[in-house]
Amino acid sequence: MAERSREVIVESTAEGATGQASRLLKEIVAEAVERRGFCYFALSGGSTPRGLYLRLAADGVSGEVAWQNVHVFFGDERDVPQDHIESNFLMAQRTLLDHVPIQVSHIHPMPADAEDLAGAAASYEQLIREVVPIENGGPRFDLILLGMGMDGHTASLFPQTEAIGVTDRLVMSYFVPVLGRSRMTFTYPLINAARNVILFVTGADKAVATARLLGAEPPDAGELPAAGIAPTSGRLTVILDAPAARDTGLHPS
Ligand code: 6PG
Repeated sequence: MAERSREVIVESTAEGATGQASRLLKEIVAEAVERRGFCYFALSGGSTPRGLYLRLAADGVSGEVAWQNVHVFFGDERDVPQDHIESNFLMAQRTLLDHVPIQVSHIHPMPADAEDLAGAAASYEQLIREVVPIENGGPRFDLILLGMGMDGHTASLFPQTEAIGVTDRLVMSYFVPVLGRSRMTFTYPLINAARNVILFVTGADKAVATARLLGAEPPDAGELPAAGIAPTSGRLTVILDAPAARDTGLHPS
């Protein structure tokens, strides 16, 4: 992971880390809306961001986020229907999107359970190219929120898979051997084109992967996919709680 574009924030608790992620997300939304009238961001799935989405939903009632000026996409999705308990979209809908004044037409779920997954990935990429403003030759998100698995995967970029080396597509679907299932995911070219990336990681179960990621010589992306997150001309902020940062030598500020 490129040192030049990275800030690491460590908070004592997951609650504190959630507060930092919420604060930064609000700053990014306000700056984007001020600059170009809208904010285009992609949400991550899994369990870590649930607390963040609930926090934003509560704040949304107080109007701290200009939700009417936000387009929401998803950085990855499981191969299940949008109403399935494992769906990243369903999790975001229940914790956040049903509770803030965002226009339904500005919510863009990933069609990861389509019959023709390659075609669906290409369509989602085309939608991104049509909706997200083009900068530096491609669609540039204001913010992409990411988590990280214990194996260092991020979005649905899994270690030692075909997804790691993809440079000719911004969105792809592929069969993930370790899961025995397919996933749809942003690829590195789209993620690293973003103006802001937040890598939000909590919990002691992520301590080993986090220490490898932030170490002096991190593994390559094939071994630790989160190490491939290196915004070309954007800002990467890694937000951790103390348990996740346990083996990094970093302590709460
Ligand atoms: C997903 C996520 C994935 C997630 C990590 C961490 O679809 O599962 O997008 O990349 O961020 O797996 O998941 P947890 O937050 O549940 O640990």
